[in-house]
Amino acid sequence: MSNTPEVPGGEAAPAEPRPAAPPIDGGAAAPAKPRKLPGEMPPDKYTRETITWIKPWTPHLFSFRTTRAPGFRFIPGQFARLGVYRDDGDPADKKGPRWVWRAYSIASASYDEFLEFYSIVVPDGEFTTTLASLKVGDEILVEKTNYGFLTTDRFEGGRDLWLLSSGTGLAPFLSVLFDLDIWAQYERIVVVHSVRQENELAYRDSIEGLKDHEAFGELLAESPGKVVYVPLVTRAPAVHADGRPMLNKRITTALADGSLEAEAGLKLDPATSRVMICGNPEMVDDIRKQLAKSGFAVSRRGVPGTMAVENYW
Ligand SMILES: Cc1cc2nc3c(=O)[nH]c(=O)nc-3n(C[C@H](O)[C@H](O)[C@H](O)COP(=O)(O)OP(=O)(O)OC[C@H]3O[C@@H](n4cnc5c(N)ncnc54)[C@H](O)[C@@H]3O)c2cc1C
Ligand SMILES: NC(=O)c1ccc[n+]([C@@H]2O[C@H](COP(=O)([O-])OP(=O)(O)OC[C@H]3O[C@@H](n4cnc5c(N)ncnc54)[C@H](OP(=O)(O)O)[C@@H]3O)[C@@H](O)[C@H]2O)c1
Repeated sequence: MSNTPEVPGGEAAPAEPRPAAPPIDGGAAAPAKPRKLPGEMPPDKYTRETITWIKPWTPHLFSFRTTRAPGFRFIPGQFARLGVYRDDGDPADKKGPRWVWRAYSIASASYDEFLEFYSIVVPDGEFTTTLASLKVGDEILVEKTNYGFLTTDRFEGGRDLWLLSSGTGLAPFLSVLFDLDIWAQYERIVVVHSVRQENELAYRDSIEGLKDHEAFGELLAESPGKVVYVPLVTRAPAVHADGRPMLNKRITTALADGSLEAEAGLKLDPATSRVMICGNPEMVDDIRKQLAKSGFAVSRRGVPGTMAVENYW
């Protein structure tokens, strides 16, 4: 029996075995006419970046940073598409060597020299199980185009910016929160993060620690209360640093019974509030419908509204 591996489509593989993560851009090590792998993209569409930092939060949540190509620009709230290489699986299922791409919100600020991402690990997830196996120094592909309309330029006016998130849906709002133009534009920024368990309140220290931040700390000293952090832990009781109980209910429930506004010390009003919602699609949809009843409307292309939303799946 021949030991030449089969590749998708049943064609014979090149005589030379591919390296673990092949140069899909036709680099020097590639055969003269490299076979196109599933998920392969023209080399001018992406850059190869290096993972420089990884921070695990829980066994199924982690953040990581990559190098950032000098030409990569984005607006806070936008997402990038990331590519990882997999060579496992059953070629008969067309699951042999392939590049797998997924959308990822950019959590870092637009001025940071690196790109930061905040990720879940989905059990058996095609992308995230590979991502979770990568180490500092490994490569990841970043598509050159950035995407998305979860950006404050979708809005006109507004005094307070509400950022409502579940799980890893917090990621784009970190980029929004660490943006000086947005601080100048809005009087208050309310960061709402709903998670199942307290240990999933990733970035809690960064948000609560803004008062000690070299740039934002000074601004907060001038305008205390400018940033309001409202964590919700839905499956177990949890307390704030000062001992007050955290909200122990979903955002939808806290919106309906008034406790979200009470906790934030602000009213949600389409005349003054601009709302961004990100994460679990059912949550996004439920909140969107609830707020629509109070007069909020989603921004559409060319028609600024008072809500902007993004579903993660
Ligand atoms: C615009 C956009 C931005 C995104 N940004 C992020 C991000 O910043 N961080 C991130 O972790 N994911 C993000 N996602 C989701 C991401 O693209 C992938 O779905 C995720 O990495 C899982 O990939 P997978 O192949 O392992 O599983 P998939 O096959 O893609 O997903 C399998 C299932 O896992 C669940 N799932 C997927 N993503 C999540 C999630 N983030 N949190 C909870 N459950 C999930 C859903 O039930 C989904 O059906 C984003 C998605 C979109 C559309
Ligand atoms: N292996 C593990 O240890 C582990 C741990 C956690 C999650 N997971 C898996 O990871 C996946 C995603 O988990 P996740 O916790 O990031 O996301 P999630 O299930 O979307 O939950 C995040 C937050 O959103 C809330 N929420 C969910 N649906 C809502 C809705 N319709 N309206 C309002 N709020 C809503 C949740 O409240 P509720 O708590 O009330 O649902 C929770 O506070 C799940 O498939 C889960 O099985 C695994």
